[in-house]
Amino acid sequence: MSTRSRAKAARRRAISEHTLGSGPADLFSRPGGGERAVTVHVRLPGDALDAADEFVALADSAGAEVVGRFSHRRDAPDPRTFIGRGKVAELAAQVEALEAALVLVDQPLSAAQERNLEADLGCRVLDRTGLILDIFAQRARTFEGRLQVELAQLKHVSSRLVRGWSHLERQKGGIGLRGPGEKQLEMDRRLIGGRMQQIERRLSKVRRTREQGRKARRRRQLPVVSLVGYTNAGKTTLFNALTGASRLAEDRLFATLDPTWRRVDLGAGTAAVISDTVGFISRLPHDLVAAFRSTLEEVSDADLLLHIIDAGAEEREHQIEQVEAVLSEIGAEAVPTLRVYNKVDTTALTPGRLNDDADGCAGVRISARDGVGLDELLAAIAARIAPLRVRRQILLAPEQGRLRAQLFRIGQVLEERYTESGWLEVAVELPHHELERLCVREGLLPERITEWQAADMPC
Ligand code: GTP
Repeated sequence: MSTRSRAKAARRRAISEHTLGSGPADLFSRPGGGERAVTVHVRLPGDALDAADEFVALADSAGAEVVGRFSHRRDAPDPRTFIGRGKVAELAAQVEALEAALVLVDQPLSAAQERNLEADLGCRVLDRTGLILDIFAQRARTFEGRLQVELAQLKHVSSRLVRGWSHLERQKGGIGLRGPGEKQLEMDRRLIGGRMQQIERRLSKVRRTREQGRKARRRRQLPVVSLVGYTNAGKTTLFNALTGASRLAEDRLFATLDPTWRRVDLGAGTAAVISDTVGFISRLPHDLVAAFRSTLEEVSDADLLLHIIDAGAEEREHQIEQVEAVLSEIGAEAVPTLRVYNKVDTTALTPGRLNDDADGCAGVRISARDGVGLDELLAAIAARIAPLRVRRQILLAPEQGRLRAQLFRIGQVLEERYTESGWLEVAVELPHHELERLCVREGLLPERITEWQAADMPC
């Protein structure tokens, strides 16, 4: 190992020893496969619905073995333990009887609440944010994804340091009380801050590279269609069905973290680039949204979003709202969206297009698993994309080779033929704004452009 990497490793060790170590904010250690856990669902008055099953699915996705569920309602969180003293005693008895090693609480806990619960229950306690971060940490595959998750974890930890250890800060200046506590906190903050800066620097490098990839895709000028949706709605299954890819579709939440692109033929010579992205979930930790913002920006940059909805999910409407909330948080609310109601095989609904008066197609019902309704979906995508692109026949003089090269670069050349006078007639599909640009900037004469007529261009 080089001196540099040894120094890096030492630095990371120092961070986890000083900050995370065996303390309550131990967010980097993961529940090992089969770890026995009890889930705790506390319903507060403002909570819209009972999402206990979803939380159990989250725990399962993290690799925990849920051996018990504990639910209760409260008017307000207890400041010391969130669930209140009486319930802590009941929960402790359940944890002991079930020999559980982990308690997962479906609410955000303060560091102090987490620590108090750990002391009272005698086992590790993780809150909802910690659990989701843990799942993301397990799933991130790309370098960028891993950096993003680590950044979110560090942000989460550093905010807890401030809250959880604020009593040490108050000791500042007290006679006989200055010393290790204060220094420890400062050191932790500095170490975390340093690591966060380092990650930010690396991330900006990785993003520059990704930005180049995005530009290259843009240059090819294929419309970009992004799949978005609540976690487990079936995005990856649909991605595979449409592109013939074989990405892993799992009955686990957040199986997909890193975006992937594939070309898909929409019929009649039209094609698009389709991308699969991270799924959304209600109460997605804000730090995580912030950390994944640039990945999610790909979504706001798309020409069309396919909002994949689990048609059979009981909480369907709530899930739709949650996805729309994240979309507006990342600035993608204005991107044209087509709703895709998936898993119709689990419902009594019939597959196919849902028409509405406004734009012709309000959505499509499909079963990605069974490959049902996909033709209607492709047609609906093509119909939504069509207005963004035009098909034209362009007449080029022999000396306009440069324009021809540009047409190949920015559009999809459908056909080419030489006229008797030696000019070149090119049939091309390209974005409307690119055609305008060629006319204004590249000297393409409007009188040499005509509507494309397939019959005019014999092969
Ligand atoms: P995340 O990666 O968590 O965002 O999930 P995803 O939206 O990519 O879902 P994925 O494609 O991984 O599918 C989740 C589960 O739903 C898998 O078990 C799929 O087999 C199942 N599934 C997907 N499409 C259908 C469908 O049309 N019908 C039924 N019954 N199940 C489906």
